[in-house]
Formats: sequence, structure tokens, C-alpha cells
Amino acid sequence: MSENLKRTFLDEVSSLKSLADAANLRVKYLGKKGIITAKIKSLSSLSPEERRVAGREINELKQFIEEECERKESLLKSAELKGRLLAEAIDITLPGKAVSFGHEHPLSRTLREVVDIFTRMGFDVQEGPEVELDCYNFEALNIPKDHPARDMQDTFYISEDIVLRTHTSPVQVRVMEKKKPPLRFIAPGKVYRCDADVTHSPMFHQVEGLMVDKDITFSHLKGVLIAFIHQMFGPDIPVRFRPSYFPFTEPSAEIDMGCILCKSAGCRVCKGTGWLEILGAGMVNPKVLENVGYDSEEYTGFAFGMGIERITLLKYSIDDIRLLFENDIRFLRQF
Ligand code: DAH
Repeated sequence: MSENLKRTFLDEVSSLKSLADAANLRVKYLGKKGIITAKIKSLSSLSPEERRVAGREINELKQFIEEECERKESLLKSAELKGRLLAEAIDITLPGKAVSFGHEHPLSRTLREVVDIFTRMGFDVQEGPEVELDCYNFEALNIPKDHPARDMQDTFYISEDIVLRTHTSPVQVRVMEKKKPPLRFIAPGKVYRCDADVTHSPMFHQVEGLMVDKDITFSHLKGVLIAFIHQMFGPDIPVRFRPSYFPFTEPSAEIDMGCILCKSAGCRVCKGTGWLEILGAGMVNPKVLENVGYDSEEYTGFAFGMGIERITLLKYSIDDIRLLFENDIRFLRQF
């Protein structure tokens, strides 16, 4: 009787395919309503003598079934693990997926370098609005309505007295209105002019600079700007100051540096002159100081303005300003 049972069990065990089936088989034999459990219960109806013999036999069978179940389960477990490892195998010899890093846009880099140089010289950084009142963009800077200097800057008008600022110079006025001297700051930002070709973009960036205090002279202007150019382009670059005209400075100057492309020998970029113009500057016109309520007898100052695109084009020998705004990744990767 128990030999038959044992054989049936062994048949069933050997045909098991999964751990789930093994669990079911365990329940079938050893569970609360299992075959072995029923047999143990039925022992109570036997005489003590019969019970002793049948009891031993059934216990041995129970132990055998338990051991077989365990053995089979551990076999199935390692088979399943093997299967999973095979299915989820990773080929560690395949090349990895490279993480691609981005980097600063060349314009952001130039701007950061300019800001770094001036903050090291004690200038702080100020900002002003891009949509600006005519009176800040022009009037307070000594550029009245009929002034020819307005034609130099093709203005985008929002209304009769609101413009997209054509330069960062209005930030001079806004800061001076709020603060008393001594002042020493730069003002980077976007400016707008109705102009577009290989060297002009309708939106571009300038950095304005202003220093106002007692006894500020043209020597301070020269010292600061030469130090800037030498840090930005190299300590051996020649620099020259040329007389010029801006309504908001008097005297005014344009500052050239030796052409970095041909080492001042003369080339297409410097138009054969050996010089590149990179800055406008001057002593703040007393009228501008008076416009913001400063006493121009007591205070003097210098101002300057430069184009970030121009500096970037020169520094990296880029010949078309539009490349800076198209954001073609093949172009940007080169920097
Ligand atoms: N605002 C001038 C421009 O956009 C640049 C400039 C020239 C700024 C001389 C200055 C300056 O502060 O002193 O053309």
C-alpha cells in the first residue's frame, strides 16, 4: 500500500517542471488535507499494535516525501536561476554608452571672462531693462530727439517714447539716479538695433562700464582698459587710444588693439591697418552727471562700452556673427 503511494509520488516528483508545481505537490501530500496527513489521522482507528507498525511506516514515508520535495525544489530553484541569468545576460565586452557633456556657449564664455576681469578690479555688476524709456536710452545721455547720433543706432521703437535699448549706456543713468558716488560697475546685457549682416545682428550683447568719484581722470580710464585688454587678449598686445565722438562722453575715444590675427602685420580682418577697434570710451560728459543730479564740479568719471559678439568673433577668428546664434552643434563643438 505505502509502496504504491511512494511510486506514484516519485512519478509525480520527477515530472515536476516548476517551483509552483512543486508547491502544489507538497500541499497534495503534506498539506492540511493532504494524503499523508489523512493517513496519520486514520491511525487512531487502529489497535495499538497495528498503530505502532503503520505509524512508523507512515512517518518514514512522510520524511521521505519531505526530503524529496526539498531536493526537487532546490534543483528547480537553481535551474530557474540559471535560466534567468542566461536570459538577462549582459555582454560586458560591448562598448558603453558615452555620456555627452555640453559646455559654455562661446558668447557666454567671453561674457564670463569680461565680468571676471572687471570684478577682480573691484567693479560690481548691474543690470537694466531691455525695453527702455527713450529718456534713459537717449535724452539723459545727451542725445536729444533731433540729434544725428540717433541715426547711428537704428532703433526699434515700441512707442514714441519706449524703445528696445540700443546700447547698455542707459544703465549708467539708472544706477547714478539711485546711488551716490563713488561708483564702479559694469552692466552686461542684450541690446537691439535694426541691422543685420555678417557682422551685425538685430540682437547682440554689450558690456557697459562706469566709474565715478572725486578726481577720476583719463589716466584711470587708460589704466583700467589697458589692464582689461591685456588680461583678455594677452599681456603683449599693443593698445592705442584714438579721438572720437560720443554725446555722453567728453573727450571720447575709440580704443584699438593690435590685430591678433596677423600680429599687426595687416590682414583682411584689420583691413590692412594692423589695428582692431574694440571699445568706445571717454570721460563722462558733465551734462550727463548734471542730468542725474551729480555736481560735475565735485565728481568726474569715465565710461566705456564694448560688444561681446565682436570680441568673440575676433578671439576665435569667426567670420560670420550668425554662427553665434544658429546653435548648430557642429559649430559649437569646436569651442
Ligand atoms: N554706447 C556706445 C555704443 O553703443 C558705446 C559706448 C561708447 C559706451 C563710449 C560708453 C562710452 O560708455 O563711453 O555705441
